[in-house]
Amino acid sequence: VSPQDLAGTRVLVTLGPTREFFDPVRFWSNPSSGTMGASLAVAAWLRGAEVTAVCGPVSLWLPPAIHRISVTTAKEMFEAASDIWPSADIGIFSAAVADFSPKSYGATKFKKDSGGLQVEFTANPDILGTLAASKRTNQRIIGFAAETGDLASLAREKRERKNMDMIVANNVLTPGAGFAASTNEVTVIDSNGREETWPTLPKTEVAWRLLDWLSLL
Ligand code: PMT
Repeated sequence: VSPQDLAGTRVLVTLGPTREFFDPVRFWSNPSSGTMGASLAVAAWLRGAEVTAVCGPVSLWLPPAIHRISVTTAKEMFEAASDIWPSADIGIFSAAVADFSPKSYGATKFKKDSGGLQVEFTANPDILGTLAASKRTNQRIIGFAAETGDLASLAREKRERKNMDMIVANNVLTPGAGFAASTNEVTVIDSNGREETWPTLPKTEVAWRLLDWLSLL
């Protein structure tokens, strides 16, 4: 029997990529598979939480007891997460949200003979940043940092700036970590100043350990 240390708590998880369309058939996105977030959603559910997963376009299965909301764009993810957040105890923001979306959305396909493609981008809402600003004292936030450089110092700064209780940094250029891998190698930093780098582990185990850490906060 799994520990029921999250019984009675409500958990919001964002996971997967978002898609920002240039035209009706092409989009700007990233390779997130949703595995890291799904592992967290399932771990929280196994530990007794009531879980809502706001999922970008991913092809993965979740137990039916997890409330799943499927979205496509960052704006849709923002709206869905904003609805759930006020009644959540824990927010886990693992989605790889596109930071920008194309400014004008053509109603028809761009033609390749139209002399190159120029697209102007506009900033998307920062879901975690916005929701963390209204965090109540009894709410907890786990955020992620997808980095390609000096993991720990970038993550320390990001955790504080975005009002997270815990940040999970992964170097998305490391083989066996980050996007679309079944394993991850993370540096975890919390608001008590604890910091650890874990070896490469299955994402399911990373998820379980993250919830162990959270229970100590
Ligand atoms: O899905 P997988 O294939 O398993 O891959 C897992 C992962 C690499 C996607 C995951 O481990 C991860 O790093 N997720 C966060 C990716 C990301 O967008 O990081 P960031 O450093 O750009 O964003 C920082 C935090 O703000 C993240 O918690 C992110 O969810 C959140 N954010 C970012 C931008 C935005 N517009 N809204 C947000 O909520």
